[in-house]
Amino acid sequence: MENEEPPSVAALGLAETATLPVSKATEQEINPWDVQAAVDEQGNVLEFDYEAISKKWATKLIDDELLERFERVTGHKPHRWLRRRLFFSHRDLDLILDHYERGEDFLLYTGRGPSSDSMHIGHTIPFEFTKWIQDVFDVPLVIMLTDDEKFLFKEKLKQPEVYQFARDNAKDIIAIGFDPKKTFIFIDSEFFTSGYNRHFNLNSTEFEKLVTNNQVRGAFGFHGSTNIGSNAFAAKQCVAAFASSYPFIWGIDHTTYFRDKKLAATPCIIPCAIDQDPYFRLVRENCSRMDDPSPKPGLIHSKFLTALQGAGGKMSASNPNSAIYMSDTAKVIKNKINKHAFSGGQETLELHKELGGNPDIDVAYQYLTYFDDDDEKLAKFAEDYRKGEMLTGDMKKECINLMTAYVTRFQGARAKVTDEILDEYKKPRKLGWKGNQNPTKPKLTQAPAEASTTDSPPDSVPLGEDGKPLTKNQQKKLEKLKQIEAKKKEKEAAKKQ
Ligand code: TRP
Repeated sequence: MENEEPPSVAALGLAETATLPVSKATEQEINPWDVQAAVDEQGNVLEFDYEAISKKWATKLIDDELLERFERVTGHKPHRWLRRRLFFSHRDLDLILDHYERGEDFLLYTGRGPSSDSMHIGHTIPFEFTKWIQDVFDVPLVIMLTDDEKFLFKEKLKQPEVYQFARDNAKDIIAIGFDPKKTFIFIDSEFFTSGYNRHFNLNSTEFEKLVTNNQVRGAFGFHGSTNIGSNAFAAKQCVAAFASSYPFIWGIDHTTYFRDKKLAATPCIIPCAIDQDPYFRLVRENCSRMDDPSPKPGLIHSKFLTALQGAGGKMSASNPNSAIYMSDTAKVIKNKINKHAFSGGQETLELHKELGGNPDIDVAYQYLTYFDDDDEKLAKFAEDYRKGEMLTGDMKKECINLMTAYVTRFQGARAKVTDEILDEYKKPRKLGWKGNQNPTKPKLTQAPAEASTTDSPPDSVPLGEDGKPLTKNQQKKLEKLKQIEAKKKEKEAAKKQ
């Protein structure tokens, strides 16, 4: 799947001014290393088409029904980023809700590739969301900082430099407010050489054996000249979703050779931007093939945040005017929004009052939807803007106030994050969490549910503990678990003799 650049005009030996029947239009490109919006015939950058990517990758769109169930099961109103579909798609979130209803443990996992020392709001939002999920479910969380990944994929970066980015980014992440009793943060280059990574390592070697070059080429567009580290890296990001990679979190010995079977069967949920999905498709495709199979991790996918320049633009570490950075002063924030935030208003005040503005493409309004929880207030702003009663300046002022408050709070917390505090989060250790204190469904002692829908199965189908007939997948799983149990008993019996 190599992306061949079309030959340039110059390469064709034609004058640049020559009119060629070559269209400027390109399709959107979304993969873990390259995210580009589509371009139309005239060369205009278009908005991302999230429904198209969800369809292409066969993810499920988050709908009202799922969010209603979320609220019923957790007792929490869904976060505004779910209500407003900034997190718009998922895989098996419904199964994670099943686990939660039964009061079963699961692992929450997310990460960041530390490619620079400056984080902007596009980087903090996924972590804010992850913290909210952790607070709602009360579960252990691992945060992976892939300094190895960035080193392997970015030609210019040197190891010590990326490691320093990872440390700085970890401190920024801590400033979001994660509970140290429930959160393990690790930097790959450090954790993978610590001795605590024995089970992680066994998992990644086993996983590497399951994935062929063809598979990673298909998933990521690698080719013959891709370095071998990049080929192997995917296994690391994948097995980071297995609870059995971190036995110490459950107080289980990490020094023994054998990985814990029960942990292998512990589910996982991963909030991430949609571009990371190819990694996790790989783990979902292969996790059942591990000697101790793990369930497919669930995913909650986010859209990309709008850059200050508007739809299709990218927040970038190398263009300070593309984003609000977490290190920006109040004055810088004000200037950036006033000067660079794309406006959906009209050219002149008179025209705006006459024709009204468009909040859907107005970046100040978009940012308000990220940070203001008040649905009614936002609906009113949008309405007033459309009518031309609210002006671009008013919208920007609201946005500046909210962004300044967000960044200021962050900076206060960040200033308190010392090296010692960072060490605390990075220490491999037993974590403590409560999970669901009031499960409404009994635990499935034999088989974890594999599918949430039952398509009118025949009468002979065995029933789960919740009284519902098991789906085909559940039955298969049950069979497998029975076999595993039987083998275990055999082994134990053999030991006793
Ligand atoms: N590859 C991700 C990046 O470049 C980092 C990452 C690792 C990650 N594990 C993850 C992101 C899990 C989301 C979820 O940013």
